[in-house]
Amino acid sequence: MERQADTLDARAQNVSLGTLTLDPDIKAPSYLVDGHVHIMPGGYALDAEGVRQGALMDRGGAVYMLGRNGGFLNDGRGKTILAHVYALYPDLQPRRILELGCGVGTSLLPVAQAFPEAESFGLDVGASMLRYAHARAGHLGVAAHFVQGSAEAAPFEDASFDLVFSAALMHETSAEAIERILAESHRLLRPGGVAVHLEVPSRYDELDLWSQIRSQVERDYNNEPAWQAATSADYGALMRAAGFSDVAVGFQDAAWAPSPGQGGFGPESKGVFRSWFVTSARR
Ligand SMILES: C[S@@+](CC[C@H](N)C(=O)[O-])C[C@H]1O[C@@H](n2cnc3c(N)ncnc32)[C@H](O)[C@@H]1O
Repeated sequence: MERQADTLDARAQNVSLGTLTLDPDIKAPSYLVDGHVHIMPGGYALDAEGVRQGALMDRGGAVYMLGRNGGFLNDGRGKTILAHVYALYPDLQPRRILELGCGVGTSLLPVAQAFPEAESFGLDVGASMLRYAHARAGHLGVAAHFVQGSAEAAPFEDASFDLVFSAALMHETSAEAIERILAESHRLLRPGGVAVHLEVPSRYDELDLWSQIRSQVERDYNNEPAWQAATSADYGALMRAAGFSDVAVGFQDAAWAPSPGQGGFGPESKGVFRSWFVTSARR
């Protein structure tokens, strides 16, 4: 990535698809700047000039997953979100889609591609992430809009989306932020719209002692301070507190080729990379 940085910056300059809207005044939340998340120097919020931090996240994320999350596109979470929408909300035909905490867009793109008539937006705090996400989407032929801002106070109007989702966002935040982000997902939806939030599948309270210790190692030595808060949260209660009723909470089978009618949502986890924890509801 370092060797290619200048080439990548040059290739990111001329992207004609979609848009990129950066906010130079944004102040990243402390949970993103106090530590180097994933021991990735600078974490997500570092605005290394150009696309370097985004490139680091893209390659680093795919390598860390060892091919188990969609290979180098790393799009398994997005495909699983899509599978969940097909399973529980098969009539949803979104016109506007928003991913909160989109990173470099790996999860947003498969959802945007499944609904080509919709306008798709990705929101993130990191400027370099978003420059890279915009360029990456353009080079993959997807017109998506990338906006810098916080998922705790998203810079969009009330009731302006039909599908709002997040993928592996909560464990990078804090217990308080999770509540605010869920409330934002409710505020941003039109009546009848759908919120889907996907997280890592290991529920802390269900782990054996050794796995709980491994989870604490993730928290303390891989700089994932909210890992335990996110995997212990009562998402059903939190979603209801955010204003949703009839909340689904469970596990969605990891999907490589999601299609309507596939189902795959149930109360049991099939394990890491085989299923993802998901909570969802219609507004
Ligand atoms: C683990 S990454 C997941 C990225 C993407 N959702 C995916 O599935 O590939 C978490 C992302 O959430 C972003 N993030 C964390 N807190 C945020 C906040 N309050 N507002 C917006 N983005 C946030 C980080 O910058 C990072 O890009």
